[in-house]
Amino acid sequence: MPNAAERAGEPYFPMTSIDLKPRAGTLSRIRVNGIDRPVAIEPDRSLLVALREELGLVGTKYGCGEGECGACKVLLDGVAVRACITPLGEAIGRSVTTIEGLAMGDRLHPVQQAFLDAGAFQCGFCTPGMIVSVTSLLSRTPRPSEEEIVAALNGNVCRCGGYLRILDAIRRVSVGSSAVEKGSP
Ligand code: FES
Ligand code: FES
Repeated sequence: MPNAAERAGEPYFPMTSIDLKPRAGTLSRIRVNGIDRPVAIEPDRSLLVALREELGLVGTKYGCGEGECGACKVLLDGVAVRACITPLGEAIGRSVTTIEGLAMGDRLHPVQQAFLDAGAFQCGFCTPGMIVSVTSLLSRTPRPSEEEIVAALNGNVCRCGGYLRILDAIRRVSVGSSAVEKGSP
């Protein structure tokens, strides 16, 4: 279905079609989704800006830009971090995994599949950050308690209010978890 801009005959630039500009700065490399990628290190440059604007990995979302919403979460050495407040320099020599790097070829990551099965998204803007947070939690705690789930998602905001389905997705992927055994909502 055409969007409003298309109906009005205006050019439409979806958020994924950004200009990938060569950047000035000291060249270095970071390992992203298993591949060494060159990036320009500049003072005050965040990991999020490098991922989206230099490497074209726009699955990681820019929400608040201030560390409040969790839309920008990626895995840094397997732990969820907010890329908007992570200086790019901190990622040098470490392993970054974005939402694009979770699936194995055509097979979705189990957490991605659980979100799909549970219909745990509406607009989907918060979804990459949510999935990254849950992946990080389950890698450390395969049987999370309700309290651990709530704590892990504490920094992730869903403006569509889809929390119940998100919790359902987590239950599906952590079958046998203490949260499921307790039968908590
Ligand atoms: Fe990073 Fe909101 S964009 S926490
Ligand atoms: Fe829209 Fe979460 S599904 S913000």
